[in-house]
Amino acid sequence: MNSNSSVQFNEQGVPVSTTFDDIYFSVDNGVDESQYVFLAQNGLPDRWQTLSAHGCFTIAETGFGTGLNFLLTWQRFLEHAPSDTRLHFVSFEKYPLSRSQLNQAYQLLKPVAEVSSEFLKHYPAPDPGCHRLILSQGRVILDLWIGDINELLPQSLPQAQQKVDAWFLDGFAPAKNPEMWQHSLYEAMSQASYSKTTFATFTAAGSVRRALQQAGFLVSKVPGFGRKREMLCGQYSESNKLKRSDRRNVTIIGGGISAACTALALTRRGVDVKVISPDIADGASGNPQGAVYPLLHAEHTPLSRFYWQAFSTATSFYQTFCSENWFPTGVMQPAFNEQRKTRYQRIADNLYAKESVNYLQPAEAGEKAGVPLGVPALLYPKAGWLRPEAVVKSIFKAAGVEFVKAKAVSLKQTDNKDWNVLLDNGESLSAERVVIATGHHVNSLLPQGIEALPIQPVRGQVSLVQTTSKLSSLKAVLCFKGYLVPADKEHHCVGATFSRNNDSLATKAEDNEENIRQLTENAQQPWAESLDVKTARVSVRATSPDHQPVAGSLSDNLYVLTGLGSRGFTSAPVLGEMLACQLTGELMPLTESALRRISARRFQS
Ligand SMILES: Cc1cc2nc3c(=O)[nH]c(=O)nc-3n(C[C@H](O)[C@H](O)[C@H](O)COP(=O)(O)OP(=O)(O)OC[C@H]3O[C@@H](n4cnc5c(N)ncnc54)[C@H](O)[C@@H]3O)c2cc1C
Ligand SMILES: C[S@@+](CC[C@H](N)C(=O)[O-])C[C@H]1O[C@@H](n2cnc3c(N)ncnc32)[C@H](O)[C@@H]1O
Repeated sequence: MNSNSSVQFNEQGVPVSTTFDDIYFSVDNGVDESQYVFLAQNGLPDRWQTLSAHGCFTIAETGFGTGLNFLLTWQRFLEHAPSDTRLHFVSFEKYPLSRSQLNQAYQLLKPVAEVSSEFLKHYPAPDPGCHRLILSQGRVILDLWIGDINELLPQSLPQAQQKVDAWFLDGFAPAKNPEMWQHSLYEAMSQASYSKTTFATFTAAGSVRRALQQAGFLVSKVPGFGRKREMLCGQYSESNKLKRSDRRNVTIIGGGISAACTALALTRRGVDVKVISPDIADGASGNPQGAVYPLLHAEHTPLSRFYWQAFSTATSFYQTFCSENWFPTGVMQPAFNEQRKTRYQRIADNLYAKESVNYLQPAEAGEKAGVPLGVPALLYPKAGWLRPEAVVKSIFKAAGVEFVKAKAVSLKQTDNKDWNVLLDNGESLSAERVVIATGHHVNSLLPQGIEALPIQPVRGQVSLVQTTSKLSSLKAVLCFKGYLVPADKEHHCVGATFSRNNDSLATKAEDNEENIRQLTENAQQPWAESLDVKTARVSVRATSPDHQPVAGSLSDNLYVLTGLGSRGFTSAPVLGEMLACQLTGELMPLTESALRRISARRFQS
């Protein structure tokens, strides 16, 4: 967890960093300063007029601070850019401000009040890594990387080759914060820039000017804002070597949450998408209720980092696209034995921000849950539950894809590297690029010559129980070994069984008994007794040997997204974004090492 920077508010109400002895924005007028220094000197909003349909404008910023530059850019983009274009804003912050500090700072920033109040709804907990927030119905993406820019740039940079259109250099003054203005920053800028890339910075320091010139920028000194005499701005001077995004059409096979998130991320980028599936949400993504929460280990691991980041994007995504079927009620893990007490306490005390995870004593835990628990519990306040089937349907609807109701039988590559998809109705269709998102069925579609993926089917049954007078007050999702969800239309989902190497879809009475037994034994509470199972649903998870999803390119024009295991609704939104960025050549929300760990090619010998 990153500690908050030491911030005080001066007499005018402007935040001041006591660590760096510098202000976050101008005392004279923060909004006008941001407009003049960062937008105007980068030629904005005028340059947005030249974006092509579905074009994306990418801005990278050093030092997110209060987010003023981002908020103003977001607002101006909505006001001025053509409605079929998108903004991708990438910013780095080592000392994230707390929500209440932001709120206080926003009192001075009334001209951006509308977007700032929207932003506060999405502002993530200050845990390390990239938080991809999907705003304004997907027209605006914010990648907020929490951590030191010197460490993060080398990890996020290799895939940023020539993709940044404008730089906002806004760390504190070089004299006060020399650690941020290092060679690695300028080197990264050079790699991520192309002939139309511009930059602007409030500083006129000679060291910054020289470093930017050495990195390949033409640098101009222009009058500064307010009391500042001069500032720097300029343009990258190398010839245009940019390979801009490629928008050829994509065919996605599958009708679950993986396919839905990928489809929406692609159509938002102007890609034509066709989806082939026998139905929508007919596989693992069709349960009546599902929980969305991160996976935490007793120490930070690459897996827990991935899920943490995925969780941040997921909550922002469901809030934006599925608010009617997403219920951020909080998810609780009762510490029903001594081992769990120790582990949960350690997680909450040492690893994450308080607004992400809390360890509650029994009385408070019971109050939060709405039913007595009798034991302490870990609470994820931003987590919750959703209606999977309705969510998948609404994402597909928002994506507006062409839907082909059929099963794909085989894939054959043609001489020009397109794909021929044979369907079970005897028809076939041609596809330029294919994404296989068929859960545990992935291998049956892999063409000859491509090694099978080590995906294992794991059967799971959820039981739907009638609510009772004792249980109807349940407010949060409870996760013991399985989970129990607050009532939806008088029913609670209890689940789920976990049967490896099994893809049988028949429901079993003994699985319902198992779900209820687990709940009763672990909860040890009257509300968990005498529950009446009304119905059940079986489906099959796709799991990988290292518990990581399997995502990305597999061979020429062929991609997969599978292996989402037991937490597909947490990981699918960020994975859909990742895949869409890979297909269109945009900046991805994951570090190089995270991408390697989930790569679809990692099993190839
Ligand atoms: C019992 C159970 C409970 C779960 N609970 C949760 C939970 O609470 N929270 C959570 O986050 N996750 C949960 N999961 C996991 C989550 O459901 C999955 O990770 C997620 O649904 C996987 O989505 P998917 O799109 O990859 O696969 P699926 O939803 O299985 O979709 C695969 C799609 O591919 C289609 N398809 C297959 N073969 C073909 C073909 N040849 N041609 C065309 N289409 C094809 C299918 O018809 C289907 O539409 C649970 C899983 C189970 C089994
Ligand atoms: C002047 S403020 C940024 C103002 C901001 N752009 C805004 O709109 O409010 C500078 C920011 O840079 C951050 N910062 C300083 N050094 C950093 C580093 N090495 N890595 C990442 N962020 C850093 C500070 O914490 C601070 O929030």
